[in-house]
Amino acid sequence: MKYSKLAAVLAVASGMCVVPQDAYGAEITSPSGTVKLKADVVDSVPVYSIEYKNKKVVLPSKLGFELADGPDMMDGFRLIDTSVSSFDEVWQPVWGENSHIRNNYNELLMRLDQPEHYRKMNIRFRVYDDGVGFRYEFPQEGVLNYFIIKEEHTQFAMNGDHTAWWIAGDYDTQEYDYTECRLSEIRGKMSEAICSNASQTLFSPTGVQTALQMKTDDGLYINIHEAALVDYSCMHLNLDDKNMVFESWLTPDAQGNKGHMQSPSHTPWRSVMICDNACDVLASNLILNLNEPCAYDDTSWIKPVKYVGVWWEMIAGPKEWSYTSDLPSVKLGKHDYASVKPHGKHSANTANVKKYIDFAAEHGFDQVLVEGWNVGWEDWFGHSKDYVFDFQTPYPDFDLEGLNAYAQSKGVRLMMHHETSASVRNYERHMDKAYKLMNKYGYNSVKSGYVGNMIPRGEHHYGQWLVNHYLYAVTEAAKHKIMVNAHEAVRPTGLCRTYPNLIGNESARGTEYEAFAGNKPFHTTVLPFTRLQGGPMDYTPGIFDMDMKEVNPDGNGHVNSTIARQLALYVTMYSPLQMAADVPEVYNRHLDAFQFIKDVAVDWDESRYLEAEPGRYIVAARKAKGGDDWYVGCTANENGHQSTISLDFLDKDKKYEAVIYADAPDAHYASNPHAYKIEKKKVTSKSRLKMKAAPGGGYAISIKPIDK
Ligand code: NOJ
Ligand code: CA
Repeated sequence: MKYSKLAAVLAVASGMCVVPQDAYGAEITSPSGTVKLKADVVDSVPVYSIEYKNKKVVLPSKLGFELADGPDMMDGFRLIDTSVSSFDEVWQPVWGENSHIRNNYNELLMRLDQPEHYRKMNIRFRVYDDGVGFRYEFPQEGVLNYFIIKEEHTQFAMNGDHTAWWIAGDYDTQEYDYTECRLSEIRGKMSEAICSNASQTLFSPTGVQTALQMKTDDGLYINIHEAALVDYSCMHLNLDDKNMVFESWLTPDAQGNKGHMQSPSHTPWRSVMICDNACDVLASNLILNLNEPCAYDDTSWIKPVKYVGVWWEMIAGPKEWSYTSDLPSVKLGKHDYASVKPHGKHSANTANVKKYIDFAAEHGFDQVLVEGWNVGWEDWFGHSKDYVFDFQTPYPDFDLEGLNAYAQSKGVRLMMHHETSASVRNYERHMDKAYKLMNKYGYNSVKSGYVGNMIPRGEHHYGQWLVNHYLYAVTEAAKHKIMVNAHEAVRPTGLCRTYPNLIGNESARGTEYEAFAGNKPFHTTVLPFTRLQGGPMDYTPGIFDMDMKEVNPDGNGHVNSTIARQLALYVTMYSPLQMAADVPEVYNRHLDAFQFIKDVAVDWDESRYLEAEPGRYIVAARKAKGGDDWYVGCTANENGHQSTISLDFLDKDKKYEAVIYADAPDAHYASNPHAYKIEKKKVTSKSRLKMKAAPGGGYAISIKPIDK
């Protein structure tokens, strides 16, 4: 083991806690000393460990790579030197949970070489008060130039058989319900955890996806994820369940390789968040802070969006994206609809879209999503076809120009929909024209989608090639001042900080599954700890008819939530893009409850998490951007939740009116989901509210100053 004297001198000079020790090459603590990281080269292998408030969180864990085209980078390393620095800034996101975010860390850079192979590799650690981020860097020195990663072997050795909230490892989908169990029980629960649309690529009976939330028996919350996933494959975690050691498992490409690298380059950040209060996990900015600042000079065109859409009636109901039951012939690459008979169930027809535009205008929504507007839906899914959509040609009954003009005359925009059917080369071929078409008609946001097996065949949704595509779609969209909300794309890793026109993602099991198979009642008490750590989710809440009878008289789907909880999700599921997903007819029957969706903000100056426990409940309070209104939301699992919340976050000098949208005393997500009560109360910062969420229920509160 070597330690550079220079680094030691620098460390002491800068007053930082970097101590050369016999056991460790370097030790560095977070700004206020809660998190301690040790890193070294032991027996020629790079290792690290993490402590939180003197408790061991990550036991000594190895770092390295297996290469497909040369000697591995698993051992044979020497520590050349270490250097330390610290960073402290406050930055302002274009949109977000808070108007200002502090990014404060101490950094340790470990420079290594592999003398036998004349290679160099650095490992950069950033140590925050709520966790650690680290990444591998490959400088353009030595002989490491172009290389292929067979596997990354980053270990995260846990110090116990923690409770985990996890979904199965899968290279193509995250649309799973979560399972809560001990790490040692994952293997036994894997087969029941696999969802019906899982891809056939389950790689291990103990493989899970990130962000993985865990809790230790002594009350620490540990979250493993990654940040700034760029030009690299998405990481899964494979558990050695005898020793409780996770190891990275990257998504392969069609040849089975996991990363094509060229120096100088680096991996995404691997992150380990540690908190002793679940609210702090939800409030953490670790993932955003590990990302680069905004890449755009002008962001004035990026605006949060509240929208309705021609959607739920197809997802839940008998309506269709397609225009006809026949397969229209394709002549010279163009679908011929002239000779086909419409089946009469096409939702995206001019009259129906006008109805949604009128509804949006009447109730103050920004946009109307229209799916099924473009030709090709007759044969879009399941046949692995390269060419389905051109993203430009409307169905004969969709008046592209007239509807956009009509929407704009009412102060509303249409939202574009690009379902790629996972035929990604086809999408890239048409992308520029498709974005230009949007510019021509005044669309400024697109919901894209990647349903089905990936084309090129053999590639996976979470592989490096697709990771590059998703970012290409976002940066190309930026050239056209277009915001992107991609469904089925790779899980977010905080890239919305750098590219804030990435205004949403799905990448998890959303409300659509309530119509297909139902979501577990605790689902929305888990997602903010896991999927939302990387960025906002287009969860599409706001379903008011849990039996969906209005939408589909023949349907038997049931949404596992009360109405009050559907309202709360606009607060607990942070997103600058929020849909009111149910149909106008249903909202018109509940205009009193709908008022909360109309009022609630989509961008915030301040967010507070009042109470939280993964899988149990979340209570969040947020202050609307540029205003004095606060909104509170609570989502609870199947046992409900009862507590007294303090409104001490309110301005001490103001009086407010609170409108409380709560579950009725006998409400229940399964047997009585539609029972709610609305109550008005005068409140101040001294008020305390005794609140009760029903099983699978919740509550929502809007709090506005009186006499503004
Ligand atoms: C799956 C998406 O999640 C859903 O929102 C969309 O309606 C369908 N794909 C069709 O694109
Ligand atoms: Ca989906």
